[in-house]
Amino acid sequence: MRAAVYDRYGPPDVLRIDDVPVPAPAPGQVLVEVAATSVNLSDWEGLRGSPLYARIGGLRSPAHRILGSDIAGRVEQVGEGVTRFRPGDEVYGDNLALMGGFAEYAVAAERALAPKPAGLTFAEASTLPQAGAIALQGTVGAATGRRVLVNGAGGGSGSFAVQLAKRLGAHVTGVDNEHKLDFMRSLGADDVLDYRREDFTRREPYDLVLDLVAHRSVFAYRRALARGGRYRCVGGSVPALLRVLTIGWLAGRLTGRRLGVLVVRPGPTAFAPLADLCLAGEVAVHIDRRFGLDDVTEALTHVGEGRARGKVVVEIS
Ligand SMILES: NC(=O)c1ccc[n+]([C@@H]2O[C@H](COP(=O)([O-])OP(=O)(O)OC[C@H]3O[C@@H](n4cnc5c(N)ncnc54)[C@H](OP(=O)(O)O)[C@@H]3O)[C@@H](O)[C@H]2O)c1
Repeated sequence: MRAAVYDRYGPPDVLRIDDVPVPAPAPGQVLVEVAATSVNLSDWEGLRGSPLYARIGGLRSPAHRILGSDIAGRVEQVGEGVTRFRPGDEVYGDNLALMGGFAEYAVAAERALAPKPAGLTFAEASTLPQAGAIALQGTVGAATGRRVLVNGAGGGSGSFAVQLAKRLGAHVTGVDNEHKLDFMRSLGADDVLDYRREDFTRREPYDLVLDLVAHRSVFAYRRALARGGRYRCVGGSVPALLRVLTIGWLAGRLTGRRLGVLVVRPGPTAFAPLADLCLAGEVAVHIDRRFGLDDVTEALTHVGEGRARGKVVVEIS
């Protein structure tokens, strides 16, 4: 099968399209003929091996030769003990543990997959698993009368988080680069900030901050919170995440605020509710660009360099 493979961390040109054997499903696994795989920032991080958490499982060289975790496609074959799926079923899921989505076939654990709703295309379904789980869990607590800020709101998870927080009645501020301000407004953000010009931690205090790209000091984040407010980050620089886990936890407790790292629960129960909202027309999928398998390098660069508004999808077949 054709796949985008890499053997060392580095810039996008370490990726190449190669012919590799079709993987065989182990017990409890499903072989999926991949139709579409969406790009997450975690793919870009996994390509470069940076931040350091992207090297978990492969300190010196990548643990998986093929990136791509958010897959959608058709079941080709099932491993021993698989009961929920059979060949021909349309499925989607976040295959973060095994990756392999930038290829014609990928194996995934049965428990990572959900039946793809007929009302969503493969490309649409592929945008939901990882970004949807982050957005759903990151906006818990958003409600009418609450001020919510999403840092990195113009990207994949952010575009869902803004819509979810608005749907819950919150007043939403979106922060991203200057090219995404109109996009964030179109998602429903009440206020938008260009992070290169304005520091959100020096504006009004917020009740809930979801940070997709943490890099500031704990004291800046604490300053951004109203009393009783909550700051949660999911990604960013390792020093910033470690500071939030340690000093942030303590500084929050001492001042009546909560600061922490959101460890996102993966799996169908974590993302399928977003598919239901999309089918009901309450949340929209925004696909900025589609690429073919030959252009995975370009697709990753488009996301990694911050040009994507919403999600980017690689259509395999
Ligand atoms: N905690 C967990 O369990 C868990 C699980 C899965 C994934 N993750 C992490 O969650 C994050 C999800 O990101 P995603 O896929 O939604 O990323 P994305 O689509 O790339 O969106 C991130 C957005 O943030 C913007 N940005 C970059 N630097 C910024 C700054 N200083 N201030 C404000 N905005 C900034 C980016 O634009 P520009 O770069 O151009 O400016 C981009 O629009 C990743 O870091 C991933 O590793 C965490």
